[in-house]
Amino acid sequence: MATINVNGQPKDVNADPTMPLLWVLRDVLGMTGTKFGCGMAQCGACTVHIDGVATRSCVTPLSAVGDKKVTTIEGLSPDGMHAVQQAWVELQVPQCGYCQSGQIMSAVALLEAKPAPTDADIDTAMNGNICRCGTYQRIRAAIHRAAEMKKG
Ligand code: FES
Ligand code: FES
Repeated sequence: MATINVNGQPKDVNADPTMPLLWVLRDVLGMTGTKFGCGMAQCGACTVHIDGVATRSCVTPLSAVGDKKVTTIEGLSPDGMHAVQQAWVELQVPQCGYCQSGQIMSAVALLEAKPAPTDADIDTAMNGNICRCGTYQRIRAAIHRAAEMKKG
């Protein structure tokens, strides 16, 4: 039995320590906002934050989490009103939506590190998040919009 901190709450998890955090979140804790895409750190669909750092949960074993703080899309804001979520809605970023929780988690981590990112910063930070629907232009625009909102 391990206890991990997810979205500010301690969660008891009865799972093998080698189980990927993605399965812990989805199958053990029933938090399905974080998606499975490739399972090998190639697509970004499974991105969560661990101590604020965008991390691929599909290749992060439960044993590596320890007492670090895990944040998922469900924990970004209590009401879906985080600036990035608002910008995503305003600019109608998603198409099928499958990749978007991972995109949003990467975007939030970027804006925490760089509150006013350039296009190049965005392209670098978002490079590992694949969107099969090709929403990249709207993602970039929405990150700029969220940066404006956060500024004030
Ligand atoms: S499912 Fe983790 S990077 Fe693709
Ligand atoms: S919105 Fe469909 S994969 Fe990105």
